[in-house]
Amino acid sequence: MTVPVGALDRHIALIGFMGAGKTTVGAMVAARISRLFFDLDREIERSLRLSIPELFRQRGEAGFRVIEAERTLETLRHNRPAVLALGGGAVETPAIRKALKDHALTVFLDVELDDAWARVARTARPLAQDAEDFRALYDLRRSLYEETADVRVQDADDIVLAALGIELGGDPEGDALIADERVLELHPLEFVETHVAGPKTLSSAERLWEELRLGRDGTIVGYGGGSTTDLAGFVAAGYMRGIRWISVPTTLVGQVDAGIGGKTGVDLPSGKNLVGAFHYPDRVLIDPALLETLPPEELRNGLAEVVKTGLLAGRSLWELPAEKMIRACAAFKAAVCLADPFERRGRREILNLGHTFGHALEAASEYRLPHGEAVALGLTAALRVSGVEIPEVLDVQPVRVDRERAWAALQRDKKARDGKIRLVLLEEVGKPVVREAEPAEVRKALDELIAD
Ligand SMILES: NC(=O)c1ccc[n+]([C@@H]2O[C@H](COP(=O)([O-])OP(=O)(O)OC[C@H]3O[C@@H](n4cnc5c(N)ncnc54)[C@H](O)[C@@H]3O)[C@@H](O)[C@H]2O)c1
Ligand SMILES: [Zn+2]
Repeated sequence: MTVPVGALDRHIALIGFMGAGKTTVGAMVAARISRLFFDLDREIERSLRLSIPELFRQRGEAGFRVIEAERTLETLRHNRPAVLALGGGAVETPAIRKALKDHALTVFLDVELDDAWARVARTARPLAQDAEDFRALYDLRRSLYEETADVRVQDADDIVLAALGIELGGDPEGDALIADERVLELHPLEFVETHVAGPKTLSSAERLWEELRLGRDGTIVGYGGGSTTDLAGFVAAGYMRGIRWISVPTTLVGQVDAGIGGKTGVDLPSGKNLVGAFHYPDRVLIDPALLETLPPEELRNGLAEVVKTGLLAGRSLWELPAEKMIRACAAFKAAVCLADPFERRGRREILNLGHTFGHALEAASEYRLPHGEAVALGLTAALRVSGVEIPEVLDVQPVRVDRERAWAALQRDKKARDGKIRLVLLEEVGKPVVREAEPAEVRKALDELIAD
């Protein structure tokens, strides 16, 4: 990783009018991505042991702005990336605007004038004492927020998405396209350089490295399902020791999972995803309209991941209309990745819910069983072991695979030191836990997935 992407290694700074909800939304985002949260107004009040209205009375607005700038700049220069809520007027100070450019992804949390007024009228806020003055200030500051911000947002999901460069819609721009051949036929894109991705293997990667004509400052666009974006990202990670890339996932699996999160790689004859690199795309462009041509089987694969995400998030995301569903799932995955960008903190483990059982069934079927079906079955087993009710959407039939082979496959990669098996389970819907389960219990749950 050579360049800062989104807010992977930068602060997320919320700016916006008083009453926009910067404190509430900022704290929510920080909790979701496991970062510290700083509310600058509260920090100032705490360090000076004075309320903001009192500070205004004692030092005037100009005096307050000086203190605000000091505290804000200091916090922005703080090393560990955090989430910051800035005071409503902070962007009026040029030094703060400059520091935001250097140290943060700046998001403008927008609010309607009436909503803001309803929230702050009749409070002690010094600049919210008169409706007419309030409106004038709102109009004045709004353009400043827009100029200063990298992106305008409405809610926590928008912020998390922006933090990984994820956009719904948006035009793929870049220098070389690496595309799934079928997708390119169905949804053509014009690029100076276009390459067919081919299978997700080292020989495809080698061919692409030979074919590419880009310089170090070139950008690759990966256009296709997870196989294609995994390969294109891997090619970008290796080409000239790493160039930028943009992920344009065209399957449901890609849009809710594979296209997001920086894991790139290829399969080897001896196993899937055995060679790879973390290499985050600068942008992920999600266009749900591309899914209209997706074969039903591929849609089912994606739905299994949607159900997994819903169970982890504690919301029936699969019941939402397509675009909302995709946005919510993408935001969930993005938040987990932001909390654990390079899989060093264990947090990403939860994304394997249902997959230990699923992978065992896939292996036992010699990969004839589609991944989505295997995951749906695996989720059923994980819910049973968790003692959590199985939602109707997971209407699965046991599959015909060899029991012993499935059991051997499950044990191969998951056996903990004392003979127990580490699994992602749910304390309840929305509360994932990683814990060790008794082999007998795991075996029983696996057996229930298999038909005689
Ligand atoms: N990087 C990650 O974090 C991650 C996560 C999950 C899965 N993956 C990887 O993703 C891969 C699976 O990805 P996938 O399920 O997207 O499958 P895929 O990329 O193999 O695509 C499946 C099929 O759908 C077709 N297709 C793609 N988009 C289409 C469209 N819009 N219309 C019609 N057809 C279309 C493709 O041509 C292909 O035949 C696996 O290799 C898996 O390891 C990676
Ligand atoms: Zn999966």
